Amino acid sequence: SVLSRGYHENVISHYENPRNVGSLPKGDLDVGTGLVGAPACGDVMKLQIRVDENGIISEVKFKTFGCGSAIASSSYLTERVKGLSLEDAGKVKNTEIAKELCLPPVKLHCSMLAEDAIRSAIRDYRSKRTQAADSKQTGF
Ligand code: FES
Ligand code: FES
Repeated sequence: SVLSRGYHENVISHYENPRNVGSLPKGDLDVGTGLVGAPACGDVMKLQIRVDENGIISEVKFKTFGCGSAIASSSYLTERVKGLSLEDAGKVKNTEIAKELCLPPVKLHCSMLAEDAIRSAIRDYRSKRTQAADSKQTGF
């Protein structure tokens, strides 16, 4: 059917040709790193964002030690959030990812991992900036 062909193409392209696999330098002040795990299966996802001076995500990289659906979810997410503000990137829902990739219900938590990972990367970036601002104020 058209539906199953659509499913096939979406999922297979992100499965077989995952985009933006890799790492960014964790120590860079403009890089946020999210590291999350899925309690259901023990799979782990690392997602990193680089944020430009306007607060826009300019680069995204991921490494996923997990199932194909988790890899496809992270690949999809990297393309989805690139060019977004942190606020908008934090609003991307796993249900959207699952729908775009036509994940079956048992694979929903795999897309949840991607949602958790981007939120965690945003949190890390923000806390780094806050710490940097604090230490500037106090002179350290
Ligand atoms: Fe194993 Fe997702 S936790 S299929
Ligand atoms: Fe573990 Fe999908 S099976 S994240």
